[in-house]
Amino acid sequence: MNQKQGPKDAKQLWRGRFEGAPADALAALNDSLSFDRRMFREDIEGSRAHVRMLEGVGLLDGDELSAILTALDSTETELADGTFEFVASDEDIHTAVERRVTELAGDAGAKLHTGRSRNDQVATDLRLWLRAELASVSGRVLDLQEALLRRAVEAGDVYLPGYTHLQQAQPVLLAHHLMAHGWALCRDIDRIFEAKVRANVSPLGAGALAGSSLPIDPHSVADALGFDAVFDNSLDAVSDRDFVADALYALTMLGVHLSRLGEELVLWASAEFGFVSLDDAFSTGSSMLPQKKNPDIAELARGKSGRLIGHLTGLLATLKGLPLAYNKDLQEDKEPLFDACDTSTLVLSAMTGMVDTITFNAATMQEAADSQYAAAVDLAEYLVCQGVPFRQAHAVVGDLVRRSLDGEGELADLVVGSDAFDEGAVALLEPGAAVANRRTAGGAGPAAVAVQLEAFADQLAADRARG
Ligand code: ARG
Repeated sequence: MNQKQGPKDAKQLWRGRFEGAPADALAALNDSLSFDRRMFREDIEGSRAHVRMLEGVGLLDGDELSAILTALDSTETELADGTFEFVASDEDIHTAVERRVTELAGDAGAKLHTGRSRNDQVATDLRLWLRAELASVSGRVLDLQEALLRRAVEAGDVYLPGYTHLQQAQPVLLAHHLMAHGWALCRDIDRIFEAKVRANVSPLGAGALAGSSLPIDPHSVADALGFDAVFDNSLDAVSDRDFVADALYALTMLGVHLSRLGEELVLWASAEFGFVSLDDAFSTGSSMLPQKKNPDIAELARGKSGRLIGHLTGLLATLKGLPLAYNKDLQEDKEPLFDACDTSTLVLSAMTGMVDTITFNAATMQEAADSQYAAAVDLAEYLVCQGVPFRQAHAVVGDLVRRSLDGEGELADLVVGSDAFDEGAVALLEPGAAVANRRTAGGAGPAAVAVQLEAFADQLAADRARG
């Protein structure tokens, strides 16, 4: 697209009321074209619906309507192919489109803005833009979930230590661990869909703040644009940016989940853990240290979540002191929202590639999980099955663990030598036994995980269909 031409002149759409020209410093601060031009398709879509409604209620005749629609088509083509010539007075995408339509359609074009304000127009454009963008982001979340599911199915009976306090706690199937991240993303999908519902309400017809004296029809224009609902209060319609905050929260929570997944992959890729090896295509090298292979994608998933949190809190701070109705502060809604959507999209694609190509080092994971202490609670539960109260069983096993750590011998030998246990107990300390013994629904053992994988696959199919 061509850059803006010429000095500020007296051609602003609102110049009738003014004698002097705007200062360059005002334009530099006030103009939003540099970022809101990405909503040009929505602006034109909204204008098409608006003028059809105007014709429907008798405010335009058929010739005027077709002249404006033709001009809107040409304007859209120019904006899409980069031949649109912006001029200095194009403050934002709305003024640029209206100016061009008026140039192309003459007097009819001058009727485009009848019964409409940029205040209801910008809110409409942003809602239309966001509704489509959220559908695209949710599709990418589903791609990542599918990658996690594929890797979980592939992992079969591979297990690794589960941690609390980052201390080894109990072994869990790798599939179970991967699915834990997958289920968190299901909640993100729900939130994204909810944000889409909230965005899908039409503010068009609210005018500057109070509606119109003209017989415009907000309901027909909302239907034409595929909105689910229409505003109830014109002041609220042009002031409301809850839908932006809702979307930012949904994306921020997604970012926090991706950050936590990223953090684990960073840890697992370290020499100390060695649980995963990164694919060349999804890792970076060091400019100085030839041996390095760095998990930059996982680190950026972690790092970018800070930026998402910033966008959410920034918008809330912008909104909190605003009197009704529209205030120019609201122009600050778009850059954080655009960036949050772009950032989420970037991180999701890179993380999907990383998850798809990472190598899980099963032997290292299992070796780490095969510490006999990992089955300590199973020993206590063995005693529980023989009627020993759990607190007492806990103390018996705790005593054996302490003696083993003090150097009295392997835990298995102490179990064999203990009066508290019969000969069946020592089998619980065999490699892999602890995870196989986790039988409860939703737990980390093979039977429950098989059920879980099916439920997860069903959930993904249902979420894909929600589209
Ligand atoms: N560029 C403006 C925005 O993004 C459009 C609305 C301008 N409205 C106004 N009354 N100046 O918020």
